[in-house]
Amino acid sequence: MNKPAGRIGIMAAMPEELQALLDVMPDESLERRAGREFWVGHLHGREVVVVLSRIGKVAAATTTTVLLSCYGVDQIIFTGVAGGLGAGVRVGDVVVADALIQHDMDASPLFPRFELPGQGVSALAPPAALTTSVRDTVEQVLSPAALAAGGALADVHLDALGLSQPRVHQGLIISGDQFIHSAQACRDLTQALPAALAVEMEGAAVAQVCHDFGVPYAVIRTISDRADDDAHIDFPRFIEAVARHYSLAIVEALLKRG
Ligand code: ADE
Repeated sequence: MNKPAGRIGIMAAMPEELQALLDVMPDESLERRAGREFWVGHLHGREVVVVLSRIGKVAAATTTTVLLSCYGVDQIIFTGVAGGLGAGVRVGDVVVADALIQHDMDASPLFPRFELPGQGVSALAPPAALTTSVRDTVEQVLSPAALAAGGALADVHLDALGLSQPRVHQGLIISGDQFIHSAQACRDLTQALPAALAVEMEGAAVAQVCHDFGVPYAVIRTISDRADDDAHIDFPRFIEAVARHYSLAIVEALLKRG
């Protein structure tokens, strides 16, 4: 990351991702607020607050608000999984958001579909320099050489899972309060938002709160499914076998990079 951050908020979408982070933190202490568990401590010498985002836009917005207002973090990294929508976005790839839209925001005819009422825009963009830096880091972490070397990703067996070398994409992630699991729903979303690479349930809400507070953020999503009729089958196995390892390796690399 370009500007050295003070305290960093790390939001994990899945309990497995949270646990992977807690396992490598030497000194975390637990604080409960708003029904959530905030883990305050260090990771690779950086001060961090690690928390489960909770699922859905409102839950994630509340978690983000507490991180910003009670813990004063000056940067948020969100790590989780998403359904792939873009044509070349495959299971096992990673998408770094450079724009986020709430696909279920629709106050038409008062405002254009997807527009955030009062904000005059539909897409929110994290800071470009941070996005580029995060994408470069993810590319290094998942490069063929890094995967061949094993290291933090030694337990990920792509061949056995029928996955190929992950690609890193940068682009639009869309969020809504639905787990998308049908080919028809995918078609509807991509018709309405053709640039969308991935769909999930929290990122655009985190973006809106960070935007309101003026705090930089990054949203990183590993593709766990294609949001089609098989999405719910692929999902749990993928988190255990791949996503939690990627998530940890990526967050560690971002923190080490400074
Ligand atoms: N997160 C992971 N896969 C998803 C999907 N298919 N829809 C919404 N959120 C997701």
